[in-house]
Amino acid sequence: MITRSSPIGIVDSGVGGLSILPELRQKLPNENLLYLGDNARFPYGNKSKSTLIKYGVELAQFLIDKEVKAIILACGTLSSNCAQAIAKEFRLPVFGIIEPSYRAWNKHKGKTVAVWATPATIDSGTYQRIFRGQPNIKYQACPTLASRVELDVQQVQLEEKAEVIVLGCTHYSWLDLKDKKAIKINGYYELVQEVKASLWDSGLLNKGLPGKCAFYFTGDIT
Ligand code: DGL
Repeated sequence: MITRSSPIGIVDSGVGGLSILPELRQKLPNENLLYLGDNARFPYGNKSKSTLIKYGVELAQFLIDKEVKAIILACGTLSSNCAQAIAKEFRLPVFGIIEPSYRAWNKHKGKTVAVWATPATIDSGTYQRIFRGQPNIKYQACPTLASRVELDVQQVQLEEKAEVIVLGCTHYSWLDLKDKKAIKINGYYELVQEVKASLWDSGLLNKGLPGKCAFYFTGDIT
């Protein structure tokens, strides 16, 4: 049975989604969190839409079997390719990172923007749809960046002249981007606000003890 103390499920292909945890912990300190990283099948960024839907539904099923009250797709590739399929298959709130980063961008309208994301995210056309009609937006598919992060590499060789970089893949929030003068946006603040409002509206915001966090990975994590 779903109750206030049921956990929020968070899913990614690996360590990228962990970058959302500090914001979640800070803004929702009483929530129990359940993190699932599908590192056995990483990377997702070069997979087809049908494969991503299959993976996304399987991961959501795992979380639902653990009685989560909501799912955060802490992965741009899943958010852009299968958020709707998961929401349709299961009756629970599903949150992705794309719309929140768009809301974060709204504060910087008029500036030149580069959206960095995996090839599967860029190919899905999701960012192009939400930014439709906006000038000066460049969509940059980064085929190897998430894999470098998974190997603990933080340096980026990418030349970037845009004033704003949208980090459209959660792995990129672990990159060392201090040398890039651009404003970096990942939408985590907006995402967590959205989750909080939804839990509040449905009477499922946990007000109990400090929340706990459980971690599951499908592959070796050494
Ligand atoms: N963290 C992911 C994303 O946000 C996926 C990276 C990958 O598995 O290629 O898109």
